[in-house]
Amino acid sequence: MSKSKILVTGGTGFIGSHTVVELINQGYPVHIIDNLSNSRLHIIDDIEKITGIKPEFTNLDLCNAERVSAFFNQHSDIKSIIHFAALKAVGESVEKPLLYYTNNVTGLINILDVVNQNKIKNFVFSSSCSVYGEPDSLPINENAPLKDAESPYANTKRINEDILRDFSKVSDLKTIALRYFNPIGSHSSAIIGEYPLNAPTNLMPVITQTAIGKRTGMQVFGTDYNTPDGSCIRDYIHVVDLAKAHIVAIERLINAKNKSNFEIFNLGTGKGTSVLEMIHTFEEVTGVRLKYKLKERRPGDVVQVYADTKFANEELGWKSKLGLNEMVSSAWKWEQALSNKYN
Ligand code: WQD
Repeated sequence: MSKSKILVTGGTGFIGSHTVVELINQGYPVHIIDNLSNSRLHIIDDIEKITGIKPEFTNLDLCNAERVSAFFNQHSDIKSIIHFAALKAVGESVEKPLLYYTNNVTGLINILDVVNQNKIKNFVFSSSCSVYGEPDSLPINENAPLKDAESPYANTKRINEDILRDFSKVSDLKTIALRYFNPIGSHSSAIIGEYPLNAPTNLMPVITQTAIGKRTGMQVFGTDYNTPDGSCIRDYIHVVDLAKAHIVAIERLINAKNKSNFEIFNLGTGKGTSVLEMIHTFEEVTGVRLKYKLKERRPGDVVQVYADTKFANEELGWKSKLGLNEMVSSAWKWEQALSNKYN
């Protein structure tokens, strides 16, 4: 029996594009919606280069309710959605909160508004460990109390989880929220990877751009934290491991294996890595020395966060497989490929 079509919103983005590759690898027809505000159209061709199959694509801004409704009326074969489309720059969200609330929350509501009439059944939502804020204890599990969000970005993830939880109570929609820890790395082909339109603020692209010379150096934001080497600790997870988790999650819903209509899973490795450890790992794996300066703390940073992966491993049936060395080497291979492409 042929597999049902999956709609991927934000499918030309970093995690979205890697998830589309894995969906196609598993035989799913895919339709991507993206407004290309933080990605590039040629990602569609890059996905075809990797998989041999070109996903359908519609350039659509989810904040346009009329166009969203018209889209679903024209695509009545879509019953499952993986929703990535959102703005995600933490710092920008602090400067432009209304942009983030409008884009991230209205975009979701416009989809949910047409769920019932189009009988959409399965919904996987891209959430984030940033909903936890600074955890009281570690590793952190899905039942941990949510703290005040550190940014409007994180707050939109928390608000959207609440919207989905409440909506699933009054509809037939089955939902899984996946709380990502820190996704890094790239597909082994180095044809797709983390490809920010603007200057990145997150650690791994800053490291690889420094290593390749796109940046003259980088900064370590704080070495006076209460951690073994004084720098912040995160749970870095390979983007391909993360992508594969989305296939497991959407199939859990398609096959009606979910235990309730709103489930939450942490997607991490369960291991914490500090900023300085990441820098040293990069230098060892690539042989490239990094130029970095030790600077003051970055406002809004949590000191340390890493996942309790038990629920995802045992209930969802997913476990990360790729280690830090593979994350680092794939990120570096991608940066080198980008540099060759544009030199
Ligand atoms: C990691 C550590 C920085 C840059 C991310 C995503 C966010 C969300 C949650 C998915 C921190 C330090 C960074 C630099 C540095 N992900 N750092 N120098 O803050 O954990 O947030 O995960 O939804 O979208 O951004 O990740 O990579 O920005 O920072 O020292 O030049 O690296 O201070 O301690 P963060 P990050």
